[in-house]
Amino acid sequence: MSGQRVCVSDFEEEAKKVLPKAVYDYYRSGADEQNTLADNVAAFNRWHLIPRVLRDVSTVDLSISLLGQKLSMPICVAATAMQRMAHPEGETATVRACRAVGTGMMLSSWATSTIEEVMSAMTASVGGVMWLQLYIYKDRELTLSLVRRAEEAGYKAIFVTVDTPYLGRRLDDMRNHFKLPPHLSMSNFSSASLAFSEGNYGNDSGLAVYAAKAIDPTLCWDDITWLKKHTHLPVIVKGVLNGEDAVLAVNYGVDGVLVSNHGARQLDGVPATLDVLEEVVRAVQGRCDVYMDGGVRRGSDVLKALALGAKAVFIGRPVLWGLACQGEQGVSEILELLKEELRLAMALSGCRSVSEVSRSLVRRVEFTSRM
Ligand SMILES: Cc1cc2nc3c(=O)[nH]c(=O)nc-3n(C[C@H](O)[C@H](O)[C@H](O)COP(=O)(O)O)c2cc1C
Repeated sequence: MSGQRVCVSDFEEEAKKVLPKAVYDYYRSGADEQNTLADNVAAFNRWHLIPRVLRDVSTVDLSISLLGQKLSMPICVAATAMQRMAHPEGETATVRACRAVGTGMMLSSWATSTIEEVMSAMTASVGGVMWLQLYIYKDRELTLSLVRRAEEAGYKAIFVTVDTPYLGRRLDDMRNHFKLPPHLSMSNFSSASLAFSEGNYGNDSGLAVYAAKAIDPTLCWDDITWLKKHTHLPVIVKGVLNGEDAVLAVNYGVDGVLVSNHGARQLDGVPATLDVLEEVVRAVQGRCDVYMDGGVRRGSDVLKALALGAKAVFIGRPVLWGLACQGEQGVSEILELLKEELRLAMALSGCRSVSEVSRSLVRRVEFTSRM
């Protein structure tokens, strides 16, 4: 079975068959008409790779150092909520796969496994890094308790999500009245209302109702100062889409910005992340790290993002497809697949290490009627 899965879309096809419809819809969907969802993927085809030749590419080193940690490749796992809907082991399976390949995992605030149990699944042996994705709740003490738990458990950074004052309109979730199956909850919270395990969320996406009740829509830049005051961990702002906000992020002292449109799940009509990456990289001028996520499905996509200035990329949905297909083994296959695709793309482009990937490797495709 697994021998037949040779690209990310093979995993998605299989996942679609095994997942309940409402779960597949929740994982797959973008906001509204889903134009940005398609564009996140299509944007990679608007760039050509311009290879160099005759460079002895018999060995290619994919390793990077990220926020002080060595990773085996510049491909990390983005926060995706509620992974136990995909597989009974959920986030703990994902983290074991990350550890085995030697990369980092960003745990969602809305995980169906606790901060502590995911870390203990990680630390059974060496390799891999954990970061916490933080939603800022109206209840600030509760928010800080997540940060403290992450610090105590040995997480290495906080990715604070800033593109979700409210949940975007995901039409399938509205139609499906999406909520968690009754045996699951958002495990980091004890009360049913915060754990997204109340019985009735009305005729809407249950998650949109939950977010409107719990998440703080007053968030502004001073809250970055507030967060930084309460943690010694690096703070990365997740969800920046333009140079102005990137400069503000630098001025507020963040350690990194993650160029992200939340997998096109918030505001339809925003640009593909690849299309704004370079603007952000230019604005930041090396004063903090720049990462990107959104639509990365192939090793050559990763290479294009690196050439446009991302230090690393994060992947969301592909991990969920791997998890749905075969738990830890499926996620391992996804990570190894992208790693090997990247290794080959780098070799065929004449790059022997990530530091050799430069802006001259990519050229924007001239507009044609085909595009
Ligand atoms: C099913 C799903 C759940 C997500 N949950 C979260 C979350 O809890 N917190 C967050 O900051 N981003 C969340 N995201 C966004 C991802 O972190 C990431 O930005 C996005 O998935 C990257 O795009 P890709 O799926 O095309 O790789 C979620 C995305 C998906 C698809």
